[in-house]
Amino acid sequence: PTAALDLKEAILQLKKERNAVILAHNYQTGDIQDLADYVGDSLGLAYQAKATEADVIVFCGVHFMAETAKIVNPSKTVVLPDRDAGCSLEQSCPGPELEAFLQANAAKNYYVIAYINCSAHVKSLCDVICTSGNAVRIVEQAPSDRPILFVPDANLGAWVMEQTGRKMDLWQGSCYVHVEFTRDSIQRIKDEYPDALVVAHPECTQAVRLLADEVCSTEKMISWCKNAPSDHLIVVTESGMLHRLRKEVPGKTLIAGPTERCACADCKYMKLNTLEKLHQCLDRLSPEVVLPEDIRAKAEAPLLRMLEQSK
Ligand code: 13P
Ligand code: SF4
Repeated sequence: PTAALDLKEAILQLKKERNAVILAHNYQTGDIQDLADYVGDSLGLAYQAKATEADVIVFCGVHFMAETAKIVNPSKTVVLPDRDAGCSLEQSCPGPELEAFLQANAAKNYYVIAYINCSAHVKSLCDVICTSGNAVRIVEQAPSDRPILFVPDANLGAWVMEQTGRKMDLWQGSCYVHVEFTRDSIQRIKDEYPDALVVAHPECTQAVRLLADEVCSTEKMISWCKNAPSDHLIVVTESGMLHRLRKEVPGKTLIAGPTERCACADCKYMKLNTLEKLHQCLDRLSPEVVLPEDIRAKAEAPLLRMLEQSK
C-alpha cells in the first residue's frame, strides 16, 4: 500500500511540474480513474481535450482517443501510457481500404460518417465524426439528398438506423469486446435477477440490444442508472464502467453483464494502461502522439463539425 501511495503521489507531483491534465476513459482501471482530472466517454473527453489550458495532455484510454486530443488541440504535447493500446474497431477499417472503397464508389457521392473509434487517416476521409453519445443527432443532421456510408461499427450503425429511420450503408467492423455478449448470456443473468433493468452499449449486437431497457454511451449510463426505477441494474459494457457507477450510484446493486465465457468483459487494450506506465509517460513525455500536419488538419474539420453539431 505504501508503494502504491508513493506512486500516486509521484504522479500528482509530476503532473504539477509538467502542467499536465490527466484525462481518462470510463473503461480505465479504478486506480487510474481515481487519479484523473476528468473521467468520461469519448465525446466528453474530446471536449475536455479541446478546452484544456494545460501544456500536456496525458490520455488514459486507447490510441485513437489520444490522437483525437492531438487533432483538436495540436499545440499541446499529448502522451499516452501505452502506445499499443489499440482498438478492434480502428483495426477493422484501415485508411487505405476506405480510400480505395470511396474511389471505387465515387459515383455514389457518399456522405461519410465515421464513428470516432478510427484512425486519423480514416477521420481525414470523412464528412463528420460521431460518438455513441451523439450518433443519432449527427445522422439526423446529415444531408437528405446523399447516401450515407457509416464506418466502422456495423452494430452501432444498425442501432442508429433503428433510431432515426435513416438508411445507411454500413462498414462491417465490430468491437471484439461488445460482440462477446450474447442473447443467452444476458438472458441468463436477467433470469437470475428478474427485477433488474438492463443498460447496454450500442456496440452490442442487435440480439443483445433487444434485451436492454436502455441503449446508450458510457457517460449516459451514469445518469440513466441514477434515475432507473429499479435497485438492480445489469450493465452490458466493458467492466471498467462499474468502478464509476459504483462510486456515483452507491445505493443500487450494479451487475456486470456476463459473456459466454466470463462474468464480465475486459478490453485488453484499455487494460494495457497501468499506474506505472502513467508515471513513466509523464516523466519521459513519451510515447507522444505525433501526426503529419496535412492528415491532422483534414481530420480536424469533421471533428469540429461533430462538436458543433452535438452542442
Ligand atoms: P463511449 O464513447 O460510449 O465511452 O464508448 C467508447 C468505446 O470505446 C466503447 O467501446
Ligand atoms: Fe475499441 Fe471495443 Fe476496446 Fe472500445 S471496448 S476501445 S471499441 S476494442
